Amino acid sequence: MNNKNLTGEVYYPSEEVINKSHIKDWDELNNRAKKDYQSFWAERADELHWFKKWDKVIDDSNKPFYKWYTGGKTNIVYNCLDIHVKTFRRNKLALIWEGENGDTKTFSYYALHRETCKFANVLKSMGVQKGDRVTIYMGRTPEIVIAMLACARIGAIHSVVYGGFSVESLSERIEDSNSKVLIVADGAYQRGKIVPLKQIADEALQRCGTVEHVLVVKRTGQEINMEFGRDMWYHELINLPIATQHCALEIMDAEDPLFILYTSGTTGKPKAILHTHGGYMVGVHSSLKYVFDIHEEDRYWCAADPGWITGHSYIVYGPLLNGTTSFMYEGAPNFPYPNRWWQMIEKYGINILYTAPTAIRGLMRFGESWVNRHDLSSLRLLGSVGEPINPEAWKWYYRVVGKEKCPIMDTWWQTETGMFMITPMPSVPLKPGSGTRPFPGIEMDVVDENGNSVKPNEEGFLIIKTPWPSMIRTVYKDPERLVQQYWSKYPGVYLTGDSARKDEDGYFWIIGRVDDVIKVSGYRLGTAEIESALVSHNTVAEAAAIGLPHEVKGNAIYAYVILRAGIEKTPTLIEELRQHVSHEVGPIAKPENIEFVDTLPKTRSGKIMRRVLKARALGQDPGNISTLEE
Ligand code: WTA
Repeated sequence: MNNKNLTGEVYYPSEEVINKSHIKDWDELNNRAKKDYQSFWAERADELHWFKKWDKVIDDSNKPFYKWYTGGKTNIVYNCLDIHVKTFRRNKLALIWEGENGDTKTFSYYALHRETCKFANVLKSMGVQKGDRVTIYMGRTPEIVIAMLACARIGAIHSVVYGGFSVESLSERIEDSNSKVLIVADGAYQRGKIVPLKQIADEALQRCGTVEHVLVVKRTGQEINMEFGRDMWYHELINLPIATQHCALEIMDAEDPLFILYTSGTTGKPKAILHTHGGYMVGVHSSLKYVFDIHEEDRYWCAADPGWITGHSYIVYGPLLNGTTSFMYEGAPNFPYPNRWWQMIEKYGINILYTAPTAIRGLMRFGESWVNRHDLSSLRLLGSVGEPINPEAWKWYYRVVGKEKCPIMDTWWQTETGMFMITPMPSVPLKPGSGTRPFPGIEMDVVDENGNSVKPNEEGFLIIKTPWPSMIRTVYKDPERLVQQYWSKYPGVYLTGDSARKDEDGYFWIIGRVDDVIKVSGYRLGTAEIESALVSHNTVAEAAAIGLPHEVKGNAIYAYVILRAGIEKTPTLIEELRQHVSHEVGPIAKPENIEFVDTLPKTRSGKIMRRVLKARALGQDPGNISTLEE
C-alpha cells in the first residue's frame, strides 16, 4: 500500500514512523485476518491471560447474539493490574493525573492495584455481588477509574453516567439499571466553577427508588447534604479495617457482563449497551496496541471523559491492558488559558494525544501562538474521534500540533462496537478527513437501500459485515432492541446508523448520522431526550429537536416548540426552557435556540418529520414530502 499511488491528497508516513511501529505491513496483516478471522482473533486473545482457555473463538449459533471465547475464564482487571504487579511494571506509573486547579496525583501499577482492592472491599461490605449494577457519577479524577476497576474486580457491572448529564438523565439511568449503590463525587471542577454532582444526584434520587447506599468521594470540598444511613464518605470507609489491600478477584466467564453504558438511539429512552469481560478485553487491547502503537516508554493521553465509551475503552481498560502510562486531566482545554493542554504535553512529555475534532477546532480559534510557546517535540502520534474531522482542522492539527511528523489516527467507532472499527495505523498513508480502512479482521461496506454496494464516492449506509470480539452483546433488559435496531434492515449485517462514502482506494469517508442521533461536540444525544425534557415543562405542548451545523461543536441543537393554549411567547420563556433542558438532561443538551411555532411537520401516522425542519432551517429543498400530513 505504501508504494501505491493513491488518489487525492495523501500524507505518506515517514520511514522513521514505519520503523518504529508494531505493524509495518498493514496489507499482510489484513490479508491474514481476512483469510481466517477466527485465527486472527484467537492470536489476539492469546496475548492476554486466561484462567482457562476458550473452547470456541466464536459461537454464532444464535445470531445476532454472538458469543466470543466461549468456555474461557478471565477477568479484565487481572489483565489490567494483577499481571503487571507481578513484573517490573509494578513500579511503573499507570496513571498521572492533573486537576484543573493544579492538584496532581500519580499511581504506580502497584498503587492502582492496592486502591482498587481497597475500593472493592468497601463495595463488598455494602453487599455488592457479582452481577449487581453500580452507578458511577463523577468528574475526571483517578477515583472514577478506581471505582470502575473495583466493580469489575468483584464481577459487579458498572454503569457510568457522564458528569455532564443532569437530574433526569441520571435518574432514569439509575432506575433502568436497578442500581443499589451509587458512587458520586461531591463536585467536579469545570472552568473554575464547581459542578455540584452530589446535589444533582440528591435530586435524581428523589425520582427513583432503587439506591440503598451512596458512596461519596470528596473532590471539591463544598458543603453537601449527607443523608444519614444512606450516604457515606469514601475516604472514611477506605480507612476502616474492612478495606484491606487484598481482595480476591472474581473469575469471570468470557461472556459475563463487564459494564453497561447508556447511549442515545433513534427513538425513546437511551439504551444500555452491554459489553463483556472476554471479547471486549481482546478488542480493546489489540486495537489500542496497533493503532496508537503503544511502546513501553510511552506516555499516552486520551483527553475524552471516562463517562463515554472512548473513556471506558481508551482511558481505562485499553491503556491498562497494555501496561502503559496514561495521563488524565480534569478540566477544560482552554482553562485558565488556551495553552493549558500544550503546557501539560510539555510538562509531562506526552507522546500520544487522542482527542476530538471539536476540541481541535476550539483550540484552533485561539491561533498558533498559544501552541508554539511550548515544546511539543515529545509527540509521536495524534488521534481523533467522535465525529468527522474537517480537512481544515486535520491539517492544523497535523501542522501546528504534530509539526508534520505525527500521523493522525482518525478512528471511527461507536459505543456499540467497543473498539476502533475504521482506523489507520501509523504505517498507513493518510487522507485528511478519512479514517482510512477497517481494522484487520473487520469487513465493512457502504450500501444502498437494498443492501447493494454503492459505486465509489457515492453516499450510502455504513454497515459491518463480520462479527468482532468487542461487539455489543445486547441492550440490557431489552434484547429485542438489539435485533430491531442493528440487525434487521439487512439480514446478517450490522447497521451503524451512519452514512458514508468509500473512495476508489477503499478509503471510508464518514458523512454523519442518518437517524435521530445528534453529535454535539462529539457527544451523542438523542432528539427524543431533548424533546421529552421540553415537554416535561408545564408550558410546552409539543417539541421537536434537530441538529444544525456549528463551526466548533460540529452540530448544535435547535428546538421547535408548540406552547400550551394561552401561554405567551416571550424571550424569557425561551431562556427558561433552555435552562430547563440543561437541568434535566445536562448542559451539553442545552438548545442553541428555541423557536415557538404553531404546527410541526408530521407524517400521517403522527411522526415528526425532523428532516423537513432541518431543510427549512438550512434554506434547502425538503425533498420528498409526500408523507407529510396536510
Ligand atoms: C460518530 C464514539 C466520523 C459516528 C466513539 C458514530 C465518527 C458515532 C468518528 C458514535 C470518526 C465516531 N469520524 N464520525 N472518527 N468517531 N463518530 O457511540 O456518527 O459516542 O456512529 O462513540 O460517532 O458515537 P459514540
